[in-house]
Amino acid sequence: MKIMVVGGGGREHAIIKKIKQSPLVDTIYALPGNAGMNADATCVNIGAKDLDGIVAFAKENQIDYAIVAPDDPLVLGAVDRLNEIGIPCFGPKANAAIIEGSKIFSKNLMKKYGIPTASYEVFTEMDAALAYLKTSSYPTVIKADGLALGKGVVIAMDHDEAVDAVRSMMEDHMFGDSGSRVVIEEFLTGPEVSVLAFTDGKTVVPMISSMDHKRALDHDEGLNTGGMGTIAPNPYYTEDVAAQCMKEIFLPTIEAMNAEGRTFKGCLYYGLMITPKGPKVIEYNCRFGDPETQVVLPLLESDLLEIMMACTNGTLAETEVRFSDKSACCVIMASGGYPKSYQNGYEITVAEDIAAEVYFAGAKEANGSLVTAGGRVLGVTAVADTLTEAIEKSYENVKKIHFENVHYRKDIGQRALAAGK
Ligand code: AMP
Ligand code: GLY
Repeated sequence: MKIMVVGGGGREHAIIKKIKQSPLVDTIYALPGNAGMNADATCVNIGAKDLDGIVAFAKENQIDYAIVAPDDPLVLGAVDRLNEIGIPCFGPKANAAIIEGSKIFSKNLMKKYGIPTASYEVFTEMDAALAYLKTSSYPTVIKADGLALGKGVVIAMDHDEAVDAVRSMMEDHMFGDSGSRVVIEEFLTGPEVSVLAFTDGKTVVPMISSMDHKRALDHDEGLNTGGMGTIAPNPYYTEDVAAQCMKEIFLPTIEAMNAEGRTFKGCLYYGLMITPKGPKVIEYNCRFGDPETQVVLPLLESDLLEIMMACTNGTLAETEVRFSDKSACCVIMASGGYPKSYQNGYEITVAEDIAAEVYFAGAKEANGSLVTAGGRVLGVTAVADTLTEAIEKSYENVKKIHFENVHYRKDIGQRALAAGK
């Protein structure tokens, strides 16, 4: 089969490396991919948001199956457009991708169907939001409605910070249109768990749980990033919690989307917080998480492409989804300065005896070498029998990769280790 993967980061590289193991696959194209993936896919210089370009490429090259990985093309309707020309896809249509595309939609969905989440109010007028903040308790959480590269969430510790956040979203349009409507919600506490789940709109099959590390610096300090590392499984996701999530959150969400006429097919990402009152939804994503995918997929033992096609065809219940009982750790190697400004163009060298998976994100080719070209440059994933060993192995292999001005966290997995004891 000829497969097309839309997207170009570490998540897409992890998907590509996994589907490459499938006997069903002949050719893999990545749009746009990145130069670090050249050994695994043919990269085509068409951007992930260029729907016309994507559709034209798929038609010309007689693509058999497309995997749309990032949020933007999903929310813009890439799957709808590809389906129109007869190409089956992994990923939700636009009317279901709204579960990530609009926080107001997802909060209202949870309220209507009794799915546990933080209590909230929606504001479309700044004055009303500012008036509400006078009576709020702090900390409080302010979220831009639309997609904002994971940066549209502010935890305001006091009234002044909250006013600044609302003004920057609704008056200064820091996130463009995304912030013209905001959600102000209750601050929850507890460990966070990411659960990615396959679904064909009827059956939901959770993958192994994981834990992201969103802050730039050790001990969860510094700015929020797209994710600086992950481990799987997440020790806070016990069997009891998993059973409760399936009953109160996972299935009810799939049923709610069906009841709304917005059947969700693809990977639904449940961002959960295990609060003293039980698990609650912090956010939904309509896609695989990054870097969660970089620890979850290496632990998948079944054929990923078969599972994805089962999600498209509605046959997930009859399809094997088996994970290994090992642990995985992914350390993101980033450009110093990320998530703020950083320099690109430094040569990346990888020792020949590297003994971990390397998933490239911000990398490109220049004068015959691989050079840095983004904030998150690559992820180094190791799999081992225990989490302790996976962490050690992934840091040993981090030492085998070099580029100038590199930054990575030294404590990925430490919180999980402490919790597991
Ligand atoms: P989101 O982009 O919605 O995942 O939010 C980013 C991060 O903000 C989450 O991973 C949480 O750490 C934090 N967060 C979001 N909503 C809340 C909330 N209601 N209470 C506490 N922390 C939150
Ligand atoms: N790692 C969080 C996300 O993919 O949104």
